[in-house]
Amino acid sequence: MKRHPSLIQLSKEHHDGLILAQVIKKNAPVYIGMPSNLDAKKEYTLNFYKTELKKHFDIEERFLIPAIKDYNSEIDLLCDQVLTEHNDLHLLIEKLKTEDDHEEVLNQLGLLLEKHIRMEERELFEKIQNHFDEEFLSKLENKLR
Ligand SMILES: [Fe+2]
Ligand SMILES: [Fe+2]
Repeated sequence: MKRHPSLIQLSKEHHDGLILAQVIKKNAPVYIGMPSNLDAKKEYTLNFYKTELKKHFDIEERFLIPAIKDYNSEIDLLCDQVLTEHNDLHLLIEKLKTEDDHEEVLNQLGLLLEKHIRMEERELFEKIQNHFDEEFLSKLENKLR
């Protein structure tokens, strides 16, 4: 399904998040222009979190979820899942800072980030676009701007 304009910015950010997930999973191929050793991947991931991911989660939690909650039980369940997974991702970032086994933590992060983004794109965003009408979605667009 084509993305509604209200969700396009978040979808673009998902694209960048998926690239990170591919790079940090165990046995990832080398991607041109991306870090290829574990120390560089750790550094890159912490920086991406600080400059991109944290803000992205924040916008979903502060603006997207409050706007779409309490209309539809399936959407509500997915919103709960979003919050739980954001929390798990925050915890894995903390673990990455302290744990010596970077490879394992990066792999867990990559797997969960990929799963999380696919869930938002394939389930949550699809349901939002199917459930709400144009008027609601254009209001959502203003809230997310
Ligand atoms: Fe999210
Ligand atoms: Fe997201």
